[in-house]
Amino acid sequence: MRTRPRSRRALALLVPLLLLLSACASDAPQDTLEPEGPIARKIDNLVNPVFIIAAVVFVLVEFGVVYLVLRFRQRKDDDPDELPGQTHGNTKLEIGWTVLPALLLGFVAFATLATLFDINDTKDDGLTVQVTGQQWWWEFTYDTNGDGKFTDEDVLTANDLVIPAGQNVGLEITSRDVIHSFWIPKLNGKKDAVPGRRHPLTINADEPGTYVGQCTEFCGLSHAYMRQRVVALPPDEFDAWLERQEKAADQPSGDDAEAGAELFASQCSVCHLARGINDDQFEEGGQGTSELVSENAPDLTHFASRGAFAGATFNLWDDLDGDHIVEADEIGTANGGRLNRGDLEAWLRDPPGQKPMDPVTPDQVAAGEQGRGMPNLNLSEEQIDQLVAFLETLE
Ligand code: CUA
Repeated sequence: MRTRPRSRRALALLVPLLLLLSACASDAPQDTLEPEGPIARKIDNLVNPVFIIAAVVFVLVEFGVVYLVLRFRQRKDDDPDELPGQTHGNTKLEIGWTVLPALLLGFVAFATLATLFDINDTKDDGLTVQVTGQQWWWEFTYDTNGDGKFTDEDVLTANDLVIPAGQNVGLEITSRDVIHSFWIPKLNGKKDAVPGRRHPLTINADEPGTYVGQCTEFCGLSHAYMRQRVVALPPDEFDAWLERQEKAADQPSGDDAEAGAELFASQCSVCHLARGINDDQFEEGGQGTSELVSENAPDLTHFASRGAFAGATFNLWDDLDGDHIVEADEIGTANGGRLNRGDLEAWLRDPPGQKPMDPVTPDQVAAGEQGRGMPNLNLSEEQIDQLVAFLETLE
């Protein structure tokens, strides 16, 4: 049976409408239109009136176009060679449609600039964190002694940016390779991470909770797997977290964990540091500990205190309450959390299979440059079990 033109037209309208509606999930964790911090709220307060103005103008213009097309269309008894009556020049109308848009745009410009200055004027409440993007994960360095520098005195972590709730936290955003972009839609506006530059941004979450985002500037192969999480804790819990992060890792106990630590020191020291476990090997590997930066790989000293791994692509702990996001109270065995062994083992079995991480260009491959991301170390199942047992101790 042939579809009639009318039903085809209806379909052409319905399909885009359904696609549009499918974007309106009620519990979308990256919904910038449901701000959960004062800075995101300022942005939302700007977006709403501008959207309403744009929507009203759109509807009026579209109705006008449709009305004029119908009203002045060629009719059956019109002579096809004869042009309709031509009008040219209507001073009142022309002044009207020049002044009105100018006024509207003037209002939008004023409101935008006022919001921009307001957000840029927001001062941090004493805590500054350096945010470093790199292919393909985010690193966070806490200026714990408040000297304005980011050194090996400071706390270093990855994937989870832990902040105290209800406070303005200053971020200094930079990159180690290409341009990335940092955005937690519920908390702040977007800011590019550019190599050699430091872009300030303030972040604030009203309530304790976990807020997610992802890199928003195409940065190569695994751009889509470069995610970030902000974990906002009540201030006293944040202080306890920070104190814990400053310490070296606990010594592993138990046969598997001990064997895992030895394996870690021999296999992983080229890239990963776990302070208190493999400092010497890491230094011998030529990385040095002066900046606590391993160029290619996250510091794993407190790996198990994070909610996600591999550029926050995988949950490190099980999502017990089923909201798809691992919250602070689901992290750590002491909290009753359950390690997500399945994904962690699969990762150790074949990292590039879980997240494409080769060098960015064929030229770089030809130049013998080291690949981005974690290589496949061809570990045995026993070694994987030992490594997982060890990694779980790094709380
Ligand atoms: Cu980093 Cu896209």
